[in-house]
Amino acid sequence: DGSAQDATAATAEFLKQYEIDDSKSTLTSDVGGPFSDQTSLKTGERGATLLEDFIFRQKIQHFDHERVPERAVHARGAGAHGVFESYGNWSNITAASFLGAPGKETPVFIRFSTVAGSRGSADTARDVHGFAVRFYTDEGNYDIVGNNIPVFFIQDAILFPDLIHAVKPKPDSEIPQAATAHDSAWDFFSQQPSTLHTLLWAMSPHGIVRSYRHMDGWGVHAFRFVTDDGKTKLVKFRFKTLQGKAGLVWEEAQAVAGNNADAHRQDLFEAIENQRFPEWEFQAQIMEEEDQLRFGFDLLDPTKIVPEDLVPFTPLGKLTLNRNPRNYFAETEQIMFQPGHIVRGVDFTEDPLLQGRLFSYLDTQLNRNGGPNFEQLPINQPRVPWHNNNRDGAGQMYIPLNTAAYSPNTLNDGFPAQANQTTRNGFFTAPNRGTSGRLVRAVSSTFADVWSQPRLFFNSLLPAEQQFVINAMRFETSNLKSSVVKSNVLIQLNRVSHDIATRVAKALGMTAPAPDAKFYHNNKTTGLSVFENKLQKL
Ligand code: HEM
Repeated sequence: DGSAQDATAATAEFLKQYEIDDSKSTLTSDVGGPFSDQTSLKTGERGATLLEDFIFRQKIQHFDHERVPERAVHARGAGAHGVFESYGNWSNITAASFLGAPGKETPVFIRFSTVAGSRGSADTARDVHGFAVRFYTDEGNYDIVGNNIPVFFIQDAILFPDLIHAVKPKPDSEIPQAATAHDSAWDFFSQQPSTLHTLLWAMSPHGIVRSYRHMDGWGVHAFRFVTDDGKTKLVKFRFKTLQGKAGLVWEEAQAVAGNNADAHRQDLFEAIENQRFPEWEFQAQIMEEEDQLRFGFDLLDPTKIVPEDLVPFTPLGKLTLNRNPRNYFAETEQIMFQPGHIVRGVDFTEDPLLQGRLFSYLDTQLNRNGGPNFEQLPINQPRVPWHNNNRDGAGQMYIPLNTAAYSPNTLNDGFPAQANQTTRNGFFTAPNRGTSGRLVRAVSSTFADVWSQPRLFFNSLLPAEQQFVINAMRFETSNLKSSVVKSNVLIQLNRVSHDIATRVAKALGMTAPAPDAKFYHNNKTTGLSVFENKLQKL
């Protein structure tokens, strides 16, 4: 009947078949024989314990294998089920079925996270926050694996291991958990100035959110929407929190973490238990293919935002989280998000960070799950039937009946049939998408200006927020041991703004470099003035 609970109820119904209810049951072995397991089998009261005690072995052995590797990044998180409701029929911009009719409901699961801390780290650490959304659409699963900050540190995925090695806890002492408080992180930031824009966002209240409910989610990359007749638009996604955005000041965060390191997961869980269902509006900035270089920067560059006054957000629908997981491991831990999980109507772009992610998530999940069958886990299954010729592997849960597991075949009358990728039946890749060029190992020259947008961001903040950023950088950099790193940080901050560099330098007892006018232009990457004018207005 269109009530917001329906799609979530469908998810609950789907997962129910996998739920195990132990109430009023008798203990059995894994293969069903009843037993008791409170004492081990010994040769006489005083031992020794027998190897033949399969009850002992089964219990201890399963326990010994309870942990799977935590996520390489974003290990700490919490999630919930919910529903997405489309505001309209968006078939003029995308063939994606979940956006195909007003009021259409699609079940979702969202996992929020921090990036650098381990699975048991405190929720309140200063960090970028993950915002991963899965839509269980009627044409397959679609994931938007985003963050609460609209830009990213690097422009090429090949630098991801460098970034993460620099921000993770120190290899010798495994301290500290905060992404930003040790020399290696600031060494990398100051050597790799593409990080500056995201760094400034992370040093602002966006880095210490008041709760998961009080943050936005961003798709970061430009993606493509594709219509049934093959027309494409470039889109950037935002999930706008309807709770309002809020951060904690540093001292509050310390107090909260000291009292309750699980503050954010508890806040989310209790809000949903108490029927205060958090909501986000799903929005897109919609741009033409020809706009790729129009705004004075490159839309393929994930270190850039598209300012809202250049391209406003179109509201597409609303997400509501209204049901908690019943088992953290089976749902929140085992959900395997991938930027590569797309549906008809959505396509990638050539953003070199996105291109690398398309490899990385599948690869790391093969490792975490010890094999290729993790899409069969209840939380990962699509809500539509799937058919393919993939076979075997660790943990295969199904019994495929087709003896002709290859294509083309005649022995199974050619089934499963190939979908027609060029008609309404479904293409994943926009039909006119093309790419060419000579091989080159280099950052695009259209990605070169990494200083203007951090300046734009800083200038857009209220004075109190600016002071928050300065205080954060003063605190974090005052912990640095290396004077070389300290002065490199000041050199880079000075390229963003002499004001920032001077204010941070003061706390370090150092002198900021002289203003460097060469960097204080505004995004002239392509020589177009539209962005520049807007910047001057701000
Ligand atoms: C996990 C976001 C860039 C590798 C995640 C998660 C999020 C996320 C939200 C947590 C997913 C979950 O909750 O299960 C982003 C964003 C990026 C970005 C927004 C940039 C725009 C990258 C890059 C790489 C990468 C460039 C590697 C080339 C990973 C890996 C995981 C992960 C390995 C763990 C996944 C798993 O074990 O399931 N990322 N990430 N990420 N990300 Fe990224």
